[in-house]
Amino acid sequence: MSRLSELPQWHKLQQYFHSVSEVSIRSLFSADSERFGNWSQKVGMLFVDYSKHRLDETGLGLLIDLARARQLELRREQMFRGELINFTEKRAALHTALRSGTDRQIKVNGTDVIPQISAVMQRMSAFVQQVRSGEWIGYSGKPITDVVNIGIGGSDLGPRMLVRALDAYTEPRLNFHFVANVDGAEISTVLERVDPERVLFIVESKTFSTIETMTNAATARQWLLSHAGDPQAVSRHFVAVSTNTAAVSEFGIDPANMFEFWDWVGGRYSVWSAIGLPVALAIGMQGFTELLEGARLMDAHFQTAPLRRNLPVLLGLIGIWYCNFHGCRTHAILPYAQPLALLPDYLQQAEMESNGKCVTREGETVDYATAPVLWGGTGVNGQHAFFQLLHQGTQMVPADFIIPKHVPHTLTHHQQILYANFVAQTEALLHGRTSQQVADEMRSQGYADEEIAALAPHRSFPGNRPSTSIVLDRLCPQSLGSLLALYEHKIFVQGVIWDINSFDQWGVELGKQLAGTVLQEIQSARQTGTHDPSTAGLIRYYLQQVDS
Ligand code: F6P
Repeated sequence: MSRLSELPQWHKLQQYFHSVSEVSIRSLFSADSERFGNWSQKVGMLFVDYSKHRLDETGLGLLIDLARARQLELRREQMFRGELINFTEKRAALHTALRSGTDRQIKVNGTDVIPQISAVMQRMSAFVQQVRSGEWIGYSGKPITDVVNIGIGGSDLGPRMLVRALDAYTEPRLNFHFVANVDGAEISTVLERVDPERVLFIVESKTFSTIETMTNAATARQWLLSHAGDPQAVSRHFVAVSTNTAAVSEFGIDPANMFEFWDWVGGRYSVWSAIGLPVALAIGMQGFTELLEGARLMDAHFQTAPLRRNLPVLLGLIGIWYCNFHGCRTHAILPYAQPLALLPDYLQQAEMESNGKCVTREGETVDYATAPVLWGGTGVNGQHAFFQLLHQGTQMVPADFIIPKHVPHTLTHHQQILYANFVAQTEALLHGRTSQQVADEMRSQGYADEEIAALAPHRSFPGNRPSTSIVLDRLCPQSLGSLLALYEHKIFVQGVIWDINSFDQWGVELGKQLAGTVLQEIQSARQTGTHDPSTAGLIRYYLQQVDS
């Protein structure tokens, strides 16, 4: 495949950017009275307004030409068809099959995966029913009241985020806890809060070899045994979700208590698989099915909508415009919904582990930027913290504002304040405030000319800062399914443009490997490895502290 930076479509975009880099969003609205209608659309339960961007039809057309030159449509079909697009691991990336319904065949290496998916879903459904009804009992005959998910990365962030986001739909009899960090503070706090006779541990790990998860799971099992006394208790209190049956049995969990998924599901794309078990326990299997349906709806939209009306394509290309032409190095996710507090963390892994790469699929070092740093936090809280930089800082940070229109509580006036802030922030970012406007306002308030001159520069805002607004009909399994799938496909689109493999994660390996060596040295209290002076000094310092 030709190098991105050598494509004529790329050069055209560069030239075009030079002619419009300073264009004001306000002038785009003045030039096109239909802009809001033409640059917004509803798909399922999501209304997306992408009109507040420094981009016009010509620029968007050029970006779509670039997507076509990268064969986006073909690459999209290769993903949905189950081709081994994650070629560095010789795997498909078929998270879409998990939510595709049962009325089709999708083959990986010649085997239809739909019957396997259905079989696991049926087992999950039976298990969820037993736990939620109180029929599944612990070693002393008591029903489960607390579910502890032990997992990290993709085996934690999706279930943790969704259980919190869907709290309004959650079975009140069950409490949910999540343990990811190997920091003993996390597991010990949870173990202090739960009753060994009524707790269910779900050990989630694609590989079942991740040291953090295995360490936490072993600690939990030891704790359970110290209370129950009988090893038979493990089968009433531990289930596993993994691709690795052998390791699950070796750990001591009966494979009958294991829910399987497959190597063609990437960790950060796995919440649609049995990794979503905590979500299904929280909201019920019907709710989990609605989550999958919401994602399926977005999959169908991504596969069939023309590129100019295709939300994942549009958000992906708008991101390329800021990242590769405006030089923006970060992107903010700003949910105006407290239950979505963990959405930025979830999307951070999805985007940064997928597209934080610096070589093309052919192994050449890229000469253009790839994934920006994704970060964020809830509105309005962020307004009283980091929004200062968004409004007056020296860098432009494209931001996604996300809010549900209807809420399950009856505090309507709270929601009105929240929605007003959601809208007003995007308006403020867009319009800014000139020093002339500031001066006029201060004059009308009776300020002296001298004071106006001193304060106006501090009180003015550059404006022309871009944002996308996403309004969910309500925060429910279906709307969230669509929202997460929208971001997954946006990430895919960008990976195609940048010509990178979005589905591997070799960048996490080196640190794991080195930690293994350092751990051996710490455990044996003897430095054997070759380290730089700083690393060696830090190991020595820890050993001295432990001794002293
Ligand atoms: O270290 C990164 C990673 O491999 C992620 O990609 C993954 O989601 C996480 O660790 C957990 O892996 P596992 O599910 O195999 O324990």
